[in-house]
Amino acid sequence: WSATARKVDGELEVGGVRLADLAAEHMTPAYVLDEADLRGRAVAFRDAFAGWDVYYAAKAFWCTAVARWMAEDGLHVDCCSPGELTVALRGGVDPARIEYHGNNKTVPELRRVVAAGVGRVVVDSLTEVGRVAAVARDLGVVQGVMVRVTPGVEAHTHEYIATAHEDQKFGLSITTGAALEAVRRVHAEDSLALRGLHSHIGSQIFDASGFEVAARRVLALHARVRDELGVEMPELDLGGGFGIAYTTQDDPATPESLAADLGRIVDAELRALGLARPRLSIEPGRAIAGPATCTLYTVGTVKPVTLDAGAVRTYVSVDGGMSDNVRTALYDADYSCTLAARASDAPPVLARVVGKHCEAGDVVVKDEFLPADVAPGDLLAVPATGAYCRSMASNYNHSLRPPVVAVRDGVARVVVRRETEDDLLATDVGNHAPAPTPG
Ligand code: LLP
Repeated sequence: WSATARKVDGELEVGGVRLADLAAEHMTPAYVLDEADLRGRAVAFRDAFAGWDVYYAAKAFWCTAVARWMAEDGLHVDCCSPGELTVALRGGVDPARIEYHGNNKTVPELRRVVAAGVGRVVVDSLTEVGRVAAVARDLGVVQGVMVRVTPGVEAHTHEYIATAHEDQKFGLSITTGAALEAVRRVHAEDSLALRGLHSHIGSQIFDASGFEVAARRVLALHARVRDELGVEMPELDLGGGFGIAYTTQDDPATPESLAADLGRIVDAELRALGLARPRLSIEPGRAIAGPATCTLYTVGTVKPVTLDAGAVRTYVSVDGGMSDNVRTALYDADYSCTLAARASDAPPVLARVVGKHCEAGDVVVKDEFLPADVAPGDLLAVPATGAYCRSMASNYNHSLRPPVVAVRDGVARVVVRRETEDDLLATDVGNHAPAPTPG
C-alpha cells in the first residue's frame, strides 16, 4: 500500500480521500495514484543516490503530471518511444536530462530525438551507430551516446523481463566483442560523443548479486576501452529493475540500502581496476511508480466453484481485468486485494478475482482470502498497480481504459481521464455508412 493509505472501520482512504467517495464521483475501475507516495519515492531515490543521476523509467507509468513532478523534483527521465518523449517535453522535462532507449529506433524517430536535444541516445546495435551518427551530422550537432551492453547475467526474475543474458534482443555482447566494436565506432564518429556504457539486467529483481556480476563485467570493459582506445568514459549507467512488494511475501530493499550496495560494489571494482569514478546513474521505474497506485474495482458477480479436491474457490468478477492489469495473465504475477468500503466479520474464503473479458486467463488476483459475504456492489482495491498496469493497458474487447485519479491532501484530481467510446471510434475510420437512426 502507498504511504498515505489508511483503513478506518473498513473504509479505505488514500491521500485523505475515501475511496468510496472517489468511486462515486469517478466510477470504477479507476487507478488511484497517491501523489505524495510517488514523489516521495522519487525524492528518496534522488537523495539516497546523491552524486548519481536518477533516471525515472517512464515506461512504468507516464503522463504529463508525472513528467512535471519529475522535472520539479530534479529527476532525469528514461524514454523509449516518441510518445514518451512528447509527454516528457510537454511536462517540462529538460531534454538534456533525457536518455533515449530502444532496440529499433527508426531514422525519423532519431531525427526527432536528436533535434529535441535529448542528452543521451543509448545505442543498442551496430546498425544504430551509423544511423544516429548520420542523423546528428545531418542536423549539425554532436549527440551524446551510451552503448548498451549485455553483461551475460542470469537475473532471477521472469524470463520475459530478464535482459542481460545473451539470448535476447537487447544490448551488445561483451563476450563476442560486439560491445567493444560499438564503442570503437561511436568514438570514431565526429558527430557522436561517447558518454559511457549502459547495462540493464532485468526487472523486479531482489538479489543484488546480479548487479554485482553485471558491474564487474561492464567495468572490465570500461577499463579495456581506456587501455585500447586511451579514453576514460565519463559515465556509467547500471539500469533499473529494483523489485517492489506485491504481496507480504516480498521484501524489497530501500533506496538507501540499494545506494550503499551499488556504491560499494562499483567502488571496489573501480579500485581494483585503477579507474576514476565515472558519473554513475540508475533507472528505476517500478520502484518509484509501482507502490504509489491501487486499482479500484466494483464487484459484479460472485460464484463459488467446487474444485477437484472438493474445496471451494469463490470467483469474484470485477468491472476491469486484463485490459487494465495484464501482469497476472502475462507474468503469472501475484497481487493481493481488500474490500475498500466496509468492514466485515464474515469468515474468510479462498477467492480469485477475475475480470470481465472473454477468456479464462483474465485473472487479476490469483488467490486471496476475502470475507465470505463479499457481494455484488462491493468495492475492491488492488495495491501496487502503479507500474506497468496503465502503461500496458489495452482496449481488449473494446473496453475503455480507466482514468488515473491523483489524490493528495484530501483532494482528488484526474490526471488521465477515462476513455470514451468516441475515443475508440475516432480511430475506426473504415465504415462510412451513416449511423442507424434510433427507433
Ligand atoms: N531501464 C531500462 C533500459 C529498461 O528496459 C527498464 C524496464 C527500466 C530501466 C526500468 O525497470 P524497472 O525499474 O521498472 O524494473 N512490463 C514488465 C516490466 C518490463 C520492464 C522493461 N524495462 C512488468 O510488468 O513486470
